[in-house]
Amino acid sequence: MRVIVTGGAGFIGSHLVSRLIRLGHEVLVIDNFSTGIRSSVLQQLDVLELDLSSPEFVNKLPKGDFDAICHLAAQSAGSVSADNPLYDLQANAMSTLLLSRWCIEKGISRFLYASSMVTYGNTDKSPVSEDQLCLPRSYYGVSKLTSEHYLRLGALEGLKPTSFRMFSVYGPGQDLENVRQGMVSIYLSYMLRGVEVPVTGSFERFRDFIYIDDVVDAWISALNLSSTPQLVYNIGSGSGTTVRELLMLLLQTLDLSSDYPICEMTGSDNDQFGLYADINNIRNDLDWVPNTDLSEGLRLMYEWAAKIL
Ligand SMILES: NC(=O)c1ccc[n+]([C@@H]2O[C@H](COP(=O)([O-])OP(=O)(O)OC[C@H]3O[C@@H](n4cnc5c(N)ncnc54)[C@H](O)[C@@H]3O)[C@@H](O)[C@H]2O)c1
Repeated sequence: MRVIVTGGAGFIGSHLVSRLIRLGHEVLVIDNFSTGIRSSVLQQLDVLELDLSSPEFVNKLPKGDFDAICHLAAQSAGSVSADNPLYDLQANAMSTLLLSRWCIEKGISRFLYASSMVTYGNTDKSPVSEDQLCLPRSYYGVSKLTSEHYLRLGALEGLKPTSFRMFSVYGPGQDLENVRQGMVSIYLSYMLRGVEVPVTGSFERFRDFIYIDDVVDAWISALNLSSTPQLVYNIGSGSGTTVRELLMLLLQTLDLSSDYPICEMTGSDNDQFGLYADINNIRNDLDWVPNTDLSEGLRLMYEWAAKIL
């Protein structure tokens, strides 16, 4: 299969690209390297350096035949979207609109999209299933939900989209320098540096942490299908972990004392309090289950981080 992966230099995209290559697929990476890391893209790969936040990118898209596109390129931090909502709209929603129109025109029907659990907003009902009302609390959440809707409209014109509402993805390769995105990577990064961990928001908030290899399994399963019964699927572990529990697990993994300095600070109004995924639909339709539990995933991530620091 010939596959375009936008955001292929990023955390999730680079894992997806590696797996696709291992499975014998041909991959073209499109990325502007704003948060992606050049060295994480395999040397022999085709790379098109493009900024998808500028509408002119459409004129520079490749000519050849492709079977599918996996669109992961995005600015992916809620706080960044609060600072610059227009950029978020362009990089996230406009890029999806233009890429989907281009795919329809070129007859590339399979379109996999990196959506997010932030589309749900605050909900007091967990596990949360895909048919729940979405009321995003951040511009980032709005741009992800808008993208899903553009793809739903594209489906009326022959596109075969699948959007994945990924919960909190973590694992080796996550950017430990970026302290604006990724709860696990942020806390781990402070602990590895031996400094106090600032936690913006309550320790009682909870999230659904899902290991990177499990996420890639889901994308590959979907790519092997010409379409999926639903347009949108959650990817999560199916269980919730409080911030307090995550911090304790990280301290155990790093063999640090339970009285390690951690400071609970005022959170952002846009933050979600807590939710975890209902994974029945993806389990049934994609025959997918998560295989790595949080303790094991944190151990694997720590082993990786200890090697690179
Ligand atoms: N990490 C998570 O927990 C999580 C959860 C839900 C959804 N997502 C979504 O998954 C996708 C990948 O996330 P990630 O954690 O790998 O983030 P990341 O920042 O590591 O990767 C994003 C990639 O997109 C590229 N990019 C950003 N803006 C671009 C632009 N305008 N033009 C071209 N390339 C651009 C970056 O350089 C980077 O390589 C994003 O769409 C994100 O919103 C991530």
